[in-house]
Amino acid sequence: MGERGRGFTTRAQARLWSVYSRCYDGLLDLVPYQRLVAQVVDALEARPGDQVVDLGCGTGNTIHALVGAVGDLQVTGVDSSADMLRVAGPKLADAPVELVRSDLLDWLRAAPSASVDRVVSVNVLYTMHASDREVFWREAMRILRPGGRLVLVTTDREGVGPVIREHFAERSFLASFSFRLVAVLVMNMIIWAMEARRVFDPASEATLRQECADAGGAVQSVQRCYGGEQDGVDVLLVAEPVLDLAALQRVDAEAPAPALDEQADTEVVVTDTMAESVDVAAED
Ligand SMILES: C[S@@+](CC[C@H](N)C(=O)[O-])C[C@H]1O[C@@H](n2cnc3c(N)ncnc32)[C@H](O)[C@@H]1O
Repeated sequence: MGERGRGFTTRAQARLWSVYSRCYDGLLDLVPYQRLVAQVVDALEARPGDQVVDLGCGTGNTIHALVGAVGDLQVTGVDSSADMLRVAGPKLADAPVELVRSDLLDWLRAAPSASVDRVVSVNVLYTMHASDREVFWREAMRILRPGGRLVLVTTDREGVGPVIREHFAERSFLASFSFRLVAVLVMNMIIWAMEARRVFDPASEATLRQECADAGGAVQSVQRCYGGEQDGVDVLLVAEPVLDLAALQRVDAEAPAPALDEQADTEVVVTDTMAESVDVAAED
């Protein structure tokens, strides 16, 4: 944890997300956010039947777009803010989605190994300090199945300029105006001011790459976004778990394959959901 980051308590963050939830979907009026969501959906390359978890799903915009694009998915949205989930609930009412109110690290720690095909997390990691990011990377790689992938978006640059420029390159001021969009821009300026004061401690692209490698992940691609391919304030990183062939060979050597008649009796154990699902409407 960065020294200056310690002052910003979990309770204060919870308050921030609660206030932000009231206008958060004003982002849907912002061209760079629309593009970002589309880029994330493309990068996920999810296939029908995949199990997907969105860590810090907020008001469910990524899940909504993903289910709209791919359809038949099993999606879990995890967020610590009941107010964010309360906005997500009605939006995702017809989708095969489970919304879970939980700290994402707690959820990850409790999830079975190799149990999901896609992990996505958009603009959440910048709020976490280095020691928590370490847990995030390690656990995300652990829960991914072989061939699975993580799509991570996080900011590594301060400022609102590139986002506003990208938006107004497409839309006139009058065509853009909505009160919820103005409220969102104010909230974003507050968040960016916090970054400038090191309340949040965003990692650089190089640090993210290193953290991914340390956790047993292989970075497949990194692209700049949310404000343009050059000046964007976010990075979109795609990573996959590296197959530990040595470990697999050890397991093979230690556990010889059962005889064919024994295989017929193999029991399938279904692990129950590990984190508490919430009735979002009833949750405080
Ligand atoms: C900027 S919003 C991003 C929401 C969404 N991913 C999107 O792209 O629209 C950050 C979200 O992360 C959630 N969040 C922050 N820290 C979290 C944590 N440790 N566990 C679970 N959710 C968290 C907040 O409640 C908030 O909904």
